[in-house]
Amino acid sequence: MTIYIKPISLERPDFAGLLSGISVANGISKDDAAAIEDGMNHFAVLVLRDQQITDDQQYAFSEHFGPMEQATGDLDKSGTRRLSMKVNDISNLDEDGTVMAIDDRRRQFSLGNRLWHSDSSFKQTPSKFSILSARDIPASGGNTQFADLRAAWDALAPEIQKECMDKICDHSQLYSRGLLGFTEWTEAEVAFNQPVPQRLVRRHAGSDRLSLYLSAHAGAIHGQPMPEARIFLRELNEHATQHQFVYSHEWQASDLVIWDNRATMHRATRYDSEQVRDLHRTTVSDNAPTLQQPV
Ligand SMILES: [Fe+2]
Repeated sequence: MTIYIKPISLERPDFAGLLSGISVANGISKDDAAAIEDGMNHFAVLVLRDQQITDDQQYAFSEHFGPMEQATGDLDKSGTRRLSMKVNDISNLDEDGTVMAIDDRRRQFSLGNRLWHSDSSFKQTPSKFSILSARDIPASGGNTQFADLRAAWDALAPEIQKECMDKICDHSQLYSRGLLGFTEWTEAEVAFNQPVPQRLVRRHAGSDRLSLYLSAHAGAIHGQPMPEARIFLRELNEHATQHQFVYSHEWQASDLVIWDNRATMHRATRYDSEQVRDLHRTTVSDNAPTLQQPV
């Protein structure tokens, strides 16, 4: 079968594509991987339907696109994870597979996924692609929304672009969770989550286009007073998440969605948290810290 990609919506012909012609469970060829990478460089988000896969099959597919991240951004490092360290657990389930209690600290932490963010922007070398597989989804709600940060950059006024250009932001999960009032950290967690610097503007290697690099994890700008930095980041976030830049993915069971964290933000939307929402994420790392990448 030949890989075929078409825009999901004619409203946004260059953002979010529907990919057909491969079975992730059966494995893909190098040519398939190159075609997917080309599609990603154009659309930044690709949706694959009807992919009933295991974690091992998802991981093997993901490895075609670069070095793999381990799930070290999770709160739970107790060794009682439900899934292996190769897979980020994007669910509301505890290690026994039951829905977490409302006061479970891991559940409170996971609410950070409802803020617009770029995965692993709090890591020195952040992520390139996230690959998310829907294993069990609630009857309604729990969409994942994606914002096109290359289009958002293109639409900024030239004077704002100039203001952004050389700025360096600090990213940490302490900042994103702090926005929700999640502030009770252990000393070890504070030490582990120390801020890392990231460029505010990146040149997207696959398309040679400039992109904003925004995330709820960004909480400071080098050389700026905090309120000045926070209001600027907030204004940029509001700009970048306007309707014309956003695709909202309504999950079907066995969907697989790939997105480029270098040029998008995403967030989950509200759902009935008594229902199971179980998605498994594998994550491909970028090849260097953003400060070492050319702009
Ligand atoms: Fe995420």
